[in-house]
Amino acid sequence: MHWPHKDLLSIQQLSVPQIEHIFDLAAKFAEINNRPVKKVPTLKGKSVVLFFAEPSTRTKLSFDMAGKRLSADTFSLAQSGSSLQKGESLSDTALTLQAMHPDAIVLRHVASGASDYLARHLQCAIINAGDGWHAHPTQALLDGFSLFQVWGEAFAGKNILLLGDIAHSRVARSDIEMLTKLGAKVRVCAPRTLLPPALLSWPVELEQNLHKACQDMDAVICLRLQLERQQAGLLPDLREYAAHFGLRPCHLQHARSDVQLLHPGPVNRGIEIAPELADADNSRILDQVSSGVATRMALLYLYLTSSREEA
Ligand code: CP
Repeated sequence: MHWPHKDLLSIQQLSVPQIEHIFDLAAKFAEINNRPVKKVPTLKGKSVVLFFAEPSTRTKLSFDMAGKRLSADTFSLAQSGSSLQKGESLSDTALTLQAMHPDAIVLRHVASGASDYLARHLQCAIINAGDGWHAHPTQALLDGFSLFQVWGEAFAGKNILLLGDIAHSRVARSDIEMLTKLGAKVRVCAPRTLLPPALLSWPVELEQNLHKACQDMDAVICLRLQLERQQAGLLPDLREYAAHFGLRPCHLQHARSDVQLLHPGPVNRGIEIAPELADADNSRILDQVSSGVATRMALLYLYLTSSREEA
């Protein structure tokens, strides 16, 4: 497939055939991850900077692994230990990186719109690895790929619940964009204080009773409480939150018998999801991590090898 995009900033940029193409490519790359020698020369000579100005385990390590398995050279820059700590601005940091001629920068940043800003000013590919509350497109794609491995392309008509801190979650925004684009019906469940004011304009249904919210669900995606982004006073206390909005086996009595359970991680066990559900056979949580490597291999391949015309 001809790939027209220079950057990956949000799911909004992608058509359904392009999302399905990413899933197909990820399935091919997943096979490499199961070989005894997990390395191919596809991106030999390409350089990828992993610029993570916010903490990360899964996204950073899986992009690093994805790049190395495709023989790209990967270089890490973090907030801590970089000149960002001396007050260097994002734009000067970005121009400094550009002067070293990387082929792509994978950026995680606390500011919504940071990736869009870099994409406008730099010539190399910018891949958004999470910007503030705005978007986490590669997480949505790996969530989609995890479900694609179970359902194939049959997303149309599937019922999917997003549970938890919708207001502060970039994963929720990107998941909703992607899942509804693929034809799934999305329901959300959260306390009022963790719902965004714009919810009415989103293509989702709201159900605040978790027992009712789980009814007929094909998948439940639990979200992390983004305590670092919350103002004080949004939750009475974590125990009360867990009692009303933490997923437990009793909630799934009226879900589909093969309901799939997802969580982008890191998981607060016993608060967002009961430990026995996080570790159950129908939990996709660790599959999501494996899918992350394969999906990011597919993305690095597409954004580093396509001879594109500007979209
Ligand atoms: N899901 C996710 O983005 O995890 P990390 O913060 O560990 O990268």
